[in-house]
Amino acid sequence: MQMRLYATATTALIAILLVVGTVTAEDHDDDDDDDGFLGDAGEGLGTAAAWGLAFSTTIIIWKPGLKYIRANADKIVEDGRWLKKKLGKANRWYLKIHYWIGAGAVLVGFIHGVAMNRWEVLFWGGWVGMLFMSITGSLLLWKWPPRKVKKGARLLHAQRAVLVITIVLLFVSHEFFD
Ligand code: HEM
Repeated sequence: MQMRLYATATTALIAILLVVGTVTAEDHDDDDDDDGFLGDAGEGLGTAAAWGLAFSTTIIIWKPGLKYIRANADKIVEDGRWLKKKLGKANRWYLKIHYWIGAGAVLVGFIHGVAMNRWEVLFWGGWVGMLFMSITGSLLLWKWPPRKVKKGARLLHAQRAVLVITIVLLFVSHEFFD
């Protein structure tokens, strides 16, 4: 439990660093840089992908937060059942945004990478991590028929190691190889 808390805090912190890193990397930009075939728009796509990944990652705070509020609904408001119903609705919306923004970030990140014309393994390793999260997330969402696949997909998608490595790769590549 405590390990999971540390992993959650670390991932959240690294996600913030990733966004900060991408935004500041853009600040460093000067017009002499080779900005690839989409120019500044290509960089903008990278920032959008970073925000998308950061949003999808907020699920590691959202889920335990929701669980806590749900468990204490009766103490927080008088009509606990009303709050639980609202939370259920908010969660359905949140998850929809989680899927679409996550999948969108992978696509936008791909276009950004190609547009920037950078082919170092560190950049693309980070992108492969995002792709991995989306593929395992899709398997989980669409409840692939074999139960074993679904169970495996949940294990792969919800574990933190790939997510942490992905964010570290993206952060390091963008901060130090830009
Ligand atoms: C690429 C960015 C993504 C990241 C970083 C990400 C991260 C996560 C994490 C860490 C969890 C586990 C939360 C927990 O149980 O503690 C989760 C849950 C989930 N994700 Fe993703 N995900 C991404 C994209 C996607 C996509 C594209 C889909 C589907 C198309 C998806 C579907 C799901 C589903 C179905 C769950 C389970 C929700 C639940 O337990 O109610 N994810 N995601």
